[in-house]
Amino acid sequence: MAVRKIELLGSQVLRTPARRVEDFGEDLQDLVRDMFDTMYHAEGVGLAGPQIGVSLRVLVLDVSQVDDSGRDSEYGRRPFALVNPEVVEASPTTDRVPEGCLSIPGVSEVVTRPVAVTVEANDPRGEPIRVEATGFLARALQHEIDHLDGILFIDHLSPLKRRMLLKKWRKLQREAETGAGG
Ligand code: NI
Repeated sequence: MAVRKIELLGSQVLRTPARRVEDFGEDLQDLVRDMFDTMYHAEGVGLAGPQIGVSLRVLVLDVSQVDDSGRDSEYGRRPFALVNPEVVEASPTTDRVPEGCLSIPGVSEVVTRPVAVTVEANDPRGEPIRVEATGFLARALQHEIDHLDGILFIDHLSPLKRRMLLKKWRKLQREAETGAGG
């Protein structure tokens, strides 16, 4: 069990497409445990490998405490990990919901995404699984799978929205560095 350091915006690993997992051995089980520890410690609902500096296609999610978390799926009601996940279907219908990210703390912005997705993956033991997700669960899955491709939620924003958000982010970072701010 270990809480790992979370990589922040500006870190190259967040922009690097992650490698597929080939080995479902003990190292992967340890990684998944550390990812859950790190996610809960940071009070997040999802975390992807690159966010702790591990460029592998692994994500963990626990949206069970979030309202409208897609509870029609069992995956909306319990923590789970996905290895090598792929979105195989996405609804043409989209919705607009605010998102944040543990790698860009302190800022959030509305992101447009498909309302429902189907994801195929392996579990950490290598068993194939299929997640049919709607609502917040679908959104969280898309956000975390984006991380595996080096994509951040700010990439989905208009240039203006993105500029404003990055300005706020840099201000927050400066305040954190100087110890100013509340
Ligand atoms: Ni994120």
